[in-house]
Amino acid sequence: MLVHIKDLVIPDMVGKFAYPAFNTQNLETTMGIIQAADGLNTPVIIEVSEGAVKYAGLTTIYEIMATLADSVKVPVALHMDHGKDMEQLRRGIELGFSSVMIDHSGLSTEENIRDTKAMVEFAHSHGAWVQGEIGKIRGSEDWVNVSDSEALLTDPDEAEQFYRATGVDTLAGSFGTVHGIIKIRGGVTPHVDVARINAIHQRIKVPLVLHGASGVDENVIHAAIEAGIAIINIDTELRLAYGESLRKSLADQPEEVDPRYIMKPVIEAVKKAAERKLLQFGTKNLIKQ
Ligand code: 13P
Repeated sequence: MLVHIKDLVIPDMVGKFAYPAFNTQNLETTMGIIQAADGLNTPVIIEVSEGAVKYAGLTTIYEIMATLADSVKVPVALHMDHGKDMEQLRRGIELGFSSVMIDHSGLSTEENIRDTKAMVEFAHSHGAWVQGEIGKIRGSEDWVNVSDSEALLTDPDEAEQFYRATGVDTLAGSFGTVHGIIKIRGGVTPHVDVARINAIHQRIKVPLVLHGASGVDENVIHAAIEAGIAIINIDTELRLAYGESLRKSLADQPEEVDPRYIMKPVIEAVKKAAERKLLQFGTKNLIKQ
C-alpha cells in the first residue's frame, strides 16, 4: 500500500527501530524489495537517486515503484535520494513522491540553507517532506562523490542551526559512514560516531538519517538507532546481491534466453539481502494482521 512517509516515520519510533530506505534503479530490484517487505510483513521506504532517475526516467521509475507499492498490503513510502537538481525534485513531488532529499551539502552552508529552505517551502505547500544534509559523507555513489579530504563529519551546532533555519522533516548527517562499494572491498573502514548522533538527537528532535550504511556491523546499527537514527539508507548491499546473482544465473543457464528466467534468481537474491536488513533494523511485524 502506497503511503506518505509521515505515516511511517513517527516521533514514537525514534530510539526503538529504523526503517531501511532501499535504493532501486529498475523493476527487478523494486520487486525484490517489495517481496521482502511483504513476506516479513514490514513497512519499508524505497528511494531513487538522481543517477537512477537519469537511467530509468523519472515517470517510469516512479510508476514502477508506486504500482508495486500499491500491489501489497504493507505500507510502502517513496523517496527521492540525493537530489541536486531542484527542478527534478519539484517534478518528483508533483508526480507523487512523499519525500525528497535535497543534497546541496557540497555548497557553502549559506547556499545549502537557502536552497533547502526553498525546497521545504515548495514541498510543504504540496504536502511532501524534505530531507536535508549537513556535513559531507565520504565515498562515491551515482552522482555523489566526496573524497576523504573533502569529507566532514556533521557538527552538532551546525546541524541545529541548519534544522532551525530550514525546517527540514528529516536530517541526514555525516556520522562516519562511507557511500558505495569501496568500504565493502576493504578500501576504507567505516565507523559510526554514535556519540555525535546522540548529541544531535538531544538538541533537535528531527528524525535522523544514516547514509552509507551497507556493511555496517549489526551492533553498531543498533547503537545508532538507540542514539536517534530513524532511517537507514542501503544501496550497495542490494547492488552486490544483484550483480553476484546475475553473474551466477547467466553462468548456470548458458543456453537461457528468456530474461524472466535469467532474472528470477536475481529478484530472489535482492529479496534475501533486503530481508536481512529489515530483520536487523527491527521493523519486522510492526503491522499487526
Ligand atoms: P551504501 O552505499 O552504504 O549502501 O549507502 C547508500 C546510501 O546512503 C544512499 O543514499
